[in-house]
Amino acid sequence: QRAGPAARPLTGRRALVTAGPTHEPIDPVRYIANRSSGKQGFAIAGALADLGAEVTLVAGPVSLPTPPGIRRVDVETAREMAAAVEAALPADVAVMVAAVADWRVEPSGQKIKKPADGTPPALMLGENPDILAGLSAGPRRPRLVVGFAAETNDVIAHATAKRQRKGCDWIVANDVSGDVMGGEANSVHIITAAGVESWDRLPKGEVAARIAQRIADELA
Ligand code: CTP
Ligand code: CA
Repeated sequence: QRAGPAARPLTGRRALVTAGPTHEPIDPVRYIANRSSGKQGFAIAGALADLGAEVTLVAGPVSLPTPPGIRRVDVETAREMAAAVEAALPADVAVMVAAVADWRVEPSGQKIKKPADGTPPALMLGENPDILAGLSAGPRRPRLVVGFAAETNDVIAHATAKRQRKGCDWIVANDVSGDVMGGEANSVHIITAAGVESWDRLPKGEVAARIAQRIADELA
């Protein structure tokens, strides 16, 4: 039911969401990746659109349908994601759900072959740009910047420190010690300047709806 303006409080607002993993090529046939499915980020993009927002979804490589009414930009690497985020500005709110690869390699143009003597090749890792930190500190910072933090231990302590370090307004801390990555449910803590709010384990769609509503309240 999408009745009156009260049901679509984000009408006229621009939202930017990142979702999924990034892939960092090693050579034409191999890449570095992670277990992010994109489900939570896609659900948040859909929930923001349901509340009336104009949503740009910057998606890493995932196999998910685009939620209705959303502009989707597909990317592969962290650097492509950073460029797509920049191109999607300005926005009133950014929700950075993507599991961005922290490191990349300088990819080989040709397939790396096994050397005859069996010595494994050494991968030289370089750090990727921190998209969230860059956005938070940048000249076109959205009014509300929300980061995610995937943690397996000391979840609240790590996420609280991450909020400071990244300069974002909220961190949604994700306990990924169980089957969260790729799974259907999520157990999160919302960390803001005011403190920590812990939600029960909920389906990802419900987590998304609650986060979208909280964003609408904040921007009202
Ligand atoms: N993020 C980002 N760009 C990166 C790395 C992370 O924008 N290069 C964003 C993620 O989208 C997420 C937040 O930063 O919103 C936290 O990501 P996370 O991997 O938990 O934080 P890191 O700072 O990379 O710390 P670590 O992996 O060491 O826990
Ligand atoms: Ca990381």
